[in-house]
Amino acid sequence: MNRIFSGVQPTGNLHLGNYLGAIRNWVALQRDFDCIFCIVDLHAITLPQDPAALRGSTREVAAAYVAAGIDPESCIIFNQSTVPAHAELAWVLGCMTPLGWLNRMTQFKEKAGKQREMAGLGLYGYPVLMAADILLYKATHVPVGEDQKQHLELARDIAGTFNRTYGTDLFPLPEPQILGTATRVMSLRDGTKKMSKSDSSDYSRINMTDDADTIALKVRRAKTDPHPLPDSVAGLEGRPEAENLIDIYAALSGRGREETVAEFAGAQFSAFKERLVDLAVAVLGPIGAEMKRLVGAPDHVDAILAHGAQRANAIAEKHLAEVYDIVGMLRPRVKSS
Ligand code: TYM
Repeated sequence: MNRIFSGVQPTGNLHLGNYLGAIRNWVALQRDFDCIFCIVDLHAITLPQDPAALRGSTREVAAAYVAAGIDPESCIIFNQSTVPAHAELAWVLGCMTPLGWLNRMTQFKEKAGKQREMAGLGLYGYPVLMAADILLYKATHVPVGEDQKQHLELARDIAGTFNRTYGTDLFPLPEPQILGTATRVMSLRDGTKKMSKSDSSDYSRINMTDDADTIALKVRRAKTDPHPLPDSVAGLEGRPEAENLIDIYAALSGRGREETVAEFAGAQFSAFKERLVDLAVAVLGPIGAEMKRLVGAPDHVDAILAHGAQRANAIAEKHLAEVYDIVGMLRPRVKSS
């Protein structure tokens, strides 16, 4: 069976982009794939983190997976640091990843910013750890948002390098799955910037736990332009805020872009926004409420994570042993007499 691996960083403020670009697609895919969904806490410490906030966010992301509809029995849900093989495989893969490949990664450039010399080795090696996450389970498919495409291309290159170097076909080359109409949800304050957990303005994003009033306020305050909505998809050209809101509506309603544009052709933003508020509240409201309920039951969430860690470790240890064997690591065993 084809296997999916994907993950979210527990860095706070899970938002509509994480939901529409990733988590919602996983819910649909779990029927047809063997699925492993990780909370990537080792990735979360590539930028400064507060320990208590990290623990809280880890439970919150687990709660989001379950509240969105991922079944913790048929899928494996766990946090990365509970499976030591992720870090071990990352080391092996890092030894065969040229610096030139890492230097091309746009996410590192964005996150390191002007302080490049001060950026940590972990931030630089982030994509190698991500490749290890995927290859450790021999995942064949990786559903993510558009922003992760470059990292996945790197993961494929690393898998190919390992296979060629050691003359093996151990790792399948993982396929990115960038699905739906909201593969890159933009900020509500600036249609040219990605909706992000780290944006200092909470008005730039709809969080998965926002209540109905907050969602309404954020949508009503979302930046627009002075023109009515266009009557064709081509009319969205050069209107990033209109395009973003239409794409969000299309994704939340499960309809296409064309159909959504046709429905609101010539409408004023004020009327369209009211419909968007109703839809966003209808979709996110129950998920946010269930997330809050689960976060309030940490023992239950921890039990899900512990069960997931046990199952993930069973696969990971077996595959890491294969890697070490191929690479030539001696695994001494004392014979019993
Ligand atoms: P993170 O936490 O930054 O993002 C989690 C997922 O949400 C998607 N996403 C978006 N999609 C659409 N519009 C947006 N504005 C938006 N913002 C975020 C991301 O594309 C991602 O799918 N590096 C990964 C975490 C990771 C991972 C992995 C993923 C670590 N190891 C292995 C897949 C496989 C990340 O971006 O996390």
